[in-house]
Amino acid sequence: MKTALITGITGQDGSYLSEFLISKGYNVVGLVRRNSTVDQRSRLDHLAAPVRKKLALEYGDLLDIPSLVLTLKKHRPAEVYNLAAQSHVKISFDQPIFTAQATGLGALNLLEAIRISDLECRFYQASSSEMFGKAEQSPQNERTPFHPRSPYGISKVFAHWATINYRESYGMWNSCGILFNHESPRRGENFVTRKITLQANRIAAGLADTLYLGNMNAKRDWGFAGDYVEAMWLMLQHSKPDDFVIATGETHSVEEFCKIAFGHLGLDYKKYVKTDQAYMRPAEVELLCGDAGKARAELGWTPKVPFPQLVKMMVDADKAR
Ligand code: NAP
Ligand code: GDD
Repeated sequence: MKTALITGITGQDGSYLSEFLISKGYNVVGLVRRNSTVDQRSRLDHLAAPVRKKLALEYGDLLDIPSLVLTLKKHRPAEVYNLAAQSHVKISFDQPIFTAQATGLGALNLLEAIRISDLECRFYQASSSEMFGKAEQSPQNERTPFHPRSPYGISKVFAHWATINYRESYGMWNSCGILFNHESPRRGENFVTRKITLQANRIAAGLADTLYLGNMNAKRDWGFAGDYVEAMWLMLQHSKPDDFVIATGETHSVEEFCKIAFGHLGLDYKKYVKTDQAYMRPAEVELLCGDAGKARAELGWTPKVPFPQLVKMMVDADKAR
């Protein structure tokens, strides 16, 4: 029975990846930060007994190398998925140093901890389409140059190259998944998709009357998180470590997302959505669209949930809540 360590297990992707790996028979170990409440574990609550027996949580932090070494030595995982990060792009402008430490240096800390522990494992780094930023070409693939536009983006570029450098320098089995935006009913409430589906429901229920957004013209390649965690696992089962773009190949604007979400509740978004400068970014990524041809050819991965279905799934889940 294989053991996998997931950093960032309390996040959106961590919860889907835990479920996926447990369904494959893995023992899953998750790194959790100390918090004044245990609320941050709500995305794992449904993993109740007997499945829960396959899940162990250890206190730790990417900024605390001893906690990483202790966890690695205790569990000797065959696979390590580094999903932990300060992952909010706009907030990275408010906390650039912390973001660089957690999202950038944190990955290097984990790679060093693996090296110090003399652990032979396969390592997955959660790289991001934000690294393409002001992209020179569309769609973006594994050979597209990076032009990050935020402290988050530059931190992810650092972590990405650190992961590749440790592969090249020390022969470590490291793969980077360059994932485009992926969403779900478990998405954090201050990312644009979830912000829209939550507030559209509040408006439909008569509990609110306006949704304030920033740049509604921004376009993203949005897929379903449940599909994307499978790609992470496939990368670590591949015959060699490598880097892959994971995307749907379609791009849609924030405005289109609003139209479908409000429309699904029988509302015209134009009556309720207003723009507010507070949600604009100092530098914006206007358009992302990924080419996942390499993942399709080499990993056999394809996305399953189309865009309109994703939006409706999120609206319905918030309605039920
Ligand atoms: P998320 O919901 O924001 O989860 C982030 C996770 O990282 C949380 O579990 C958080 O713990 C943890 N974390 C933050 N700082 C940490 C630290 N210093 N030490 C240990 N844990 C820490 O993010 P997500 O959407 O699941 O994304 C997963 C990963 O993929 C992230 O690295 C993200 O940058 C990357 N990514 C995401 C997307 C996307 O569209 N979702 C696309 C490309 C790449 P707490 O719960 O304690 O805060
Ligand atoms: N969050 C937010 N809130 N974004 C808004 C808003 C708003 O009120 N109004 C417009 N937007 C626009 C943003 O300016 C951006 O262009 C787009 O909506 C998407 O924003 P987010 O949902 O915050 O996601 P992101 O694309 O910046 O970053 C996400 O995807 C990356 C992959 O490309 C995060 O999950 C990152 O961690 C991930 O790496």
